[in-house]
Amino acid sequence: MVSITINGRELKTEKDITLLQLAKSEGIGIPTLCSHKALIPYGACRLCVVEVSKGQKTKIVNSCAYPLREDGISVQTNTPRLKKIRKNILEFLLARCPEVEIIKKMAGAVGVKEKRLPKKKVSNGQKEECILCGLCVRVCNEVIGKEAISFVHRGADREVAAPFYSQSKDCVGCTACAFVCPTGAIKVKESGNKRNIIPWNTEITLVTCEMCGISFAPENSGEYLKTKLNLPAEWLKLCPQCRRKVAAETMGKYDFASRKVFLKR
Ligand code: FES
Repeated sequence: MVSITINGRELKTEKDITLLQLAKSEGIGIPTLCSHKALIPYGACRLCVVEVSKGQKTKIVNSCAYPLREDGISVQTNTPRLKKIRKNILEFLLARCPEVEIIKKMAGAVGVKEKRLPKKKVSNGQKEECILCGLCVRVCNEVIGKEAISFVHRGADREVAAPFYSQSKDCVGCTACAFVCPTGAIKVKESGNKRNIIPWNTEITLVTCEMCGISFAPENSGEYLKTKLNLPAEWLKLCPQCRRKVAAETMGKYDFASRKVFLKR
């Protein structure tokens, strides 16, 4: 166990959890944009900065990537210095993505209203919505086990893209990238049995349920999961609702003729 204080509150916690995890579990608010509990900390947005003091020394660290290992540290989460850092970061983010709701809201909360910095120039009149937090790249790699997208270029041209800006063979169409994106930058459109992941120029074919005829899961991610999780061959034939109905009927709980569910006690 490790003993520390956060904003004057004495706390005991297990070793090696991060400062951000402890603060969250204690209801202490620290703003974040690039942290996700399923992913390894990356420290991209730097909004989660806190002051950590031991003895006479104080340093500023990213709380999402600071594992607690030593006793006796004292943490402050909202000093004037930290507020200024967050305000500066949000000013940059707002200049980059002025239309993104969550950025506008977070910037407003720290008092950034006017845009002092010039807007980022974007091509084709498209609005910039990506803050380069890397959550999409990391979820694809760390959770799905694929490398369908990655960072490309440097400096002001840095962005996330599929290899050569065309459909990646690695993409299983799961849309985990869109799910974790904090700004909604990854748009997905579905029409009939096709799913388009717009920023990756990717089109995926969906499997059609043999019973009800709706398109419900990407063909290649279904195949990938079937192999990875050792699922039965018929797993991809029915959509989740029809699978549940069939399972219920098999157990005598669902009557297809009357469409009634009979609960057994
Ligand atoms: S949440 Fe810690 S750096 Fe982004």
